Amino acid sequence: MSTDAIVLLKADHKEVARLFTEFEKKATTPARKRAIVGKVLEALTVHTYLENEVLYPQVRAEVPALEDHILESYEEHHVVDVLAAELAGMDQTSERYFPKFTVLMENVRHHVKEEEEEWFPQVRAALSRTRLSEMGAQMLAMKPDAPRHPAQPSALKKAIDAVIA
Ligand SMILES: [Fe+2]
Ligand SMILES: [Fe+2]
Repeated sequence: MSTDAIVLLKADHKEVARLFTEFEKKATTPARKRAIVGKVLEALTVHTYLENEVLYPQVRAEVPALEDHILESYEEHHVVDVLAAELAGMDQTSERYFPKFTVLMENVRHHVKEEEEEWFPQVRAALSRTRLSEMGAQMLAMKPDAPRHPAQPSALKKAIDAVIA
């Protein structure tokens, strides 16, 4: 199996896109929709963690031309983190629950498009296959212990307050 970092991350994107389509087209009951939201939150928590910990900092250090894309991507992750934390902490029967998830889907689709169309191709062009395989192997090694649940809103608020203070 390939451990190419970009191949692995794109496979995650595909799986999340599949869950989004399932949510929109196939899930007919609120219970089915809530189950899909749960799967998406878990998949995104793991994926974002691995990008934040491995791909982003290493690409930032090794491909300085991509710094602006990476800084913007961190902020897009942050927006999704906030939405994910709110969804994880809120009443699943609230009238705001599915609309909030729809906004999360819009944000994730935009972010994935930017990664796949705007800057992952530049990472592929700038780094060797060996280097991308090393990064992928590192991500696979970290995956089993990666966080799987979004931060609780209180923990998130504390982290934001700490940055502002
Ligand atoms: Fe990302
Ligand atoms: Fe991604």
